[in-house]
Formats: sequence, C-alpha cells, structure tokens
Amino acid sequence: MTAFPTTRMRRMRANDWSRRLMRENMLTPNDLIWTVVVSDRTNGAEPVPSMPGVERLGVKAAANAAKRARALGIPAVAIFPNIDDSLKDAGGREADNPDGLVANVIKAMKDAAPEIGIICDVALDPFTDHGHDGLLEGGVILNDATVERLCSQALMQANAGCDVIAPSDMMDGRIGVLRAALDSQGFTDTLILSYAVKYASVFYGPYRNAIGSAAVLRGDKKTYQMDPANTDEALREAALDIDEGADMIMVKPGLPYLDVVARLKTEFGMPTYAFQVSGEYAMIEAAAANGWIDGERAMMESLLAFKRAGADGVLTYFAVRAAERLNA
Ligand code: PBG
Repeated sequence: MTAFPTTRMRRMRANDWSRRLMRENMLTPNDLIWTVVVSDRTNGAEPVPSMPGVERLGVKAAANAAKRARALGIPAVAIFPNIDDSLKDAGGREADNPDGLVANVIKAMKDAAPEIGIICDVALDPFTDHGHDGLLEGGVILNDATVERLCSQALMQANAGCDVIAPSDMMDGRIGVLRAALDSQGFTDTLILSYAVKYASVFYGPYRNAIGSAAVLRGDKKTYQMDPANTDEALREAALDIDEGADMIMVKPGLPYLDVVARLKTEFGMPTYAFQVSGEYAMIEAAAANGWIDGERAMMESLLAFKRAGADGVLTYFAVRAAERLNA
C-alpha cells in the first residue's frame, strides 16, 4: 500500500457519489423482523411505559400489524405475548393453549397477511408465575422436563400456523428434541430459529416490563442464559444447535454483542440474526426524548451496524419506523 501523501483516504469520501460507490453494506426492509408485543387485555393497542413508541396489540390490531408489515416490505414478525396474571402458574400451562392468545394472534395474522412469516418465541416466561423460561423446582430450573413442555408449546404454535419456532429458553438439547417433535407431527417444513447465543443481560429489562414478567421474576437467569464475558462458549452453543437442526441462529442482545455476531457468521456461514433488544431500543428512545441524540439517525446507524457485523437480519422494535424511512 502506498502511503501518504500519494494515498489520501479522504478523496473517496469527498462526494456523495463516490461514497455511494464504495459503500459496502446496505440496510433494506428485507433485513427487518418486527418484534410485536401482543396482549389479551385489549382489542386495540395500549402503550408500553418502558418502551415509548411500542404498544401491546390486541388480536385485531396484531392482524393489522401483519398487513402493515406486508405493505412496508418487512418479511416477518416475531410475536411476544403479555397474558393476564390470572392465567399464569408454576407450570406455565397457558403456553400450549390452542385457544389462547398466541394461537389466536397467529391465526389472525395469517388470515390477514398470509405472505408474512410468523415467528414465535418458545419459552415459558410469559406464562409462569415465577417469570422463568423453564420449570422451577426447589430453586433449580429443570432442563429435560422443560424441553418436554417446550415441545408441546411449539406444536401448538405450528398447528396454529406459525412458520418459525424460535426457542429463547436456553435449555440444553432443545433444538434436536423440538425438531424431532415437529417432524413426528408432519411439520417437517416448520423452521427453527435458535436463540443459540443468549446472554443473561440487563438489557432485557424493558421487555420484562412489556410482557409482565418483571414484577413476578424471582432471581436471575444465569443458570441457563450465557455469561456476558464469553465468546468461545457462544461458538459451542451455536455449533450444537446447528448440529441439532437449527435453520437459523441468533445472537441476543444485539449491539453490545456484535463481535459475537461477526464470529458466528464467519465460523458457520449460517443465516444469522441479531436481536436489538428492548433495552437497546429504550436507550435510544430515552436519549432522543431528552434531546441528547438524534433518535432517527441513531436507529438507522445501529441497524446498519448489524449488517456490517455480518447479520442477515435484525429483530427490532424499530422495524416499522426504519422500513418507513427506507421506503420514503
Ligand atoms: C425470554 C425472552 C426475553 C426476551 C425475549 N424472550 C427476555 C428474557 O430472557 O427475560 C427479550 C426481548 C427484549 O428484551 O427485547 N424468553
């Protein structure tokens, strides 16, 4: 490489046309998965206090959201339920209710916009009265018994018309067992998006508020979610899930873990996604509301950063606003 003064990096940056010519990464609506919070307490929409601009949608509003995604060119939505506390219990029995909120939302969305991919979280936390993703016994989260419940939950989702099941529970071995359960019931084409690498993160705080598990959660999730200090462990988690049959893998949270996204994409070459979680959303919104940051530009820059790191797509609460900007 020839050095300065022969080489001047600023030459290519001098004009908009040359910046566009050398641009390496691009964000389009195809990169966005809209994370939608749904609720059985409303038919319309109610605001989520911890996430200004995000609403919990009732079944009807969720169906309209699917149409909105379609109109904006967003390929898929991911559903997160907030159910009434009276339906929660230790075993999370509502998790596989074929007539429950999640099933109703899936059906309503599929009816409204069959072209939109529907992704459902597989985990018990929205349904348990202790707020954990798995079954709790004597202070311990049971692995294998939880996986059994997750199979029942995933089959309910697939039966209702869900396209992608997305286990976010971090139990060991669940991808292989879920794949076998789906296949045994004829759901050989139902996709699995594994939350392969999910850290025990403080950035989920506003979400736990949104789905109503914050108030009930006892303890933390460190015995099943990963230590934020580790990346070798992330490679092992992803390798296991891929071996067990994951079609896509995910890293969560997003922005603080872009090194993990880049490492997984390089190592495995799998369809790889990142979850820009509730805390990431809330931080941008809070700073913007105070006039400390340009929220719109922070949104676009953060989403582009995921692409640069190697993500094939981003689960984000910003999906609609970003797609509107990209389509403008
Ligand atoms: C749990 C789950 C969590 C999120 C999605 N599924 C949080 C948790 O582990 O407590 C977080 C989403 C977000 O913060 O936006 N199954």
